[in-house]
Amino acid sequence: MKRKLIIAANWKMNKGPAETTEFIESFLPGSEELSESCDIIIAPPYVSLPVAASLLVDSPVALSAQNVSEQDEGAFTGEVATRMLNEVGAQYVILGHSERRAIYGESDEFINAKVRKALTAGLVPIFCIGETLEERESGELEEVLRAQVSGGLADLTVEDMAEVVVAYEPVWAIGTGVTATPDQAQEAHAFVRTLLGDQFGAEVAAATRIQYGGSVKPGNSAELMAQTDIDGALVGGASLEAGSFRDLIANAVV
Ligand code: 13P
Repeated sequence: MKRKLIIAANWKMNKGPAETTEFIESFLPGSEELSESCDIIIAPPYVSLPVAASLLVDSPVALSAQNVSEQDEGAFTGEVATRMLNEVGAQYVILGHSERRAIYGESDEFINAKVRKALTAGLVPIFCIGETLEERESGELEEVLRAQVSGGLADLTVEDMAEVVVAYEPVWAIGTGVTATPDQAQEAHAFVRTLLGDQFGAEVAAATRIQYGGSVKPGNSAELMAQTDIDGALVGGASLEAGSFRDLIANAVV
């Protein structure tokens, strides 16, 4: 059985509360119909979560944070705890994004601590993996993905994995306008599913939703989402404008 599509808007460091309000008010009409065959998620910056949560009440659109602390509370300047995300109504949290890995030096071990903390708090991790161009070109694709999956999802149970969404985002396709071809993406997704099978068993591998991310747009979402092992998208640039995000989803669900 085909897994239900799951498409998330990762706004990265864009949109404060005012722009978040503007986007949601424009996006919500018509989202009911789209959500019948696709889970839709918006991930604004931390400061915009409260206003987003209040606007999304009773809507089919879910709310995600873009990061969370691996700590519970205390002297961790600048950090935000899972409990605080629960309090503002976030249901998902993006973890291990390549920008966090590359710019802020997050390791597989550190990401794993966050994934486990999120699960304990009832937040669904959107767990990101992906290779750089250099790694792909030097034939290290499988090795890199294997290390990210085994490290980032270490010590999770089969029950935990029922809650996890995986996002495959080749770093070379993020924000570059260069999308992985549907074949390249499908091949990587199928491999990630094999890794999940090795680590958690066939049932988990078959049930886990794997999003593709990297220059997904209204013009390529249909072809990408039609691939057997691609179950959704994690969208940066094309999710910043309500009409573009709506078209991207509408094209994917047909
Ligand atoms: P773009 O869609 O802008 O390439 O970003 C992808 C991404 O990093 C989503 O998390």
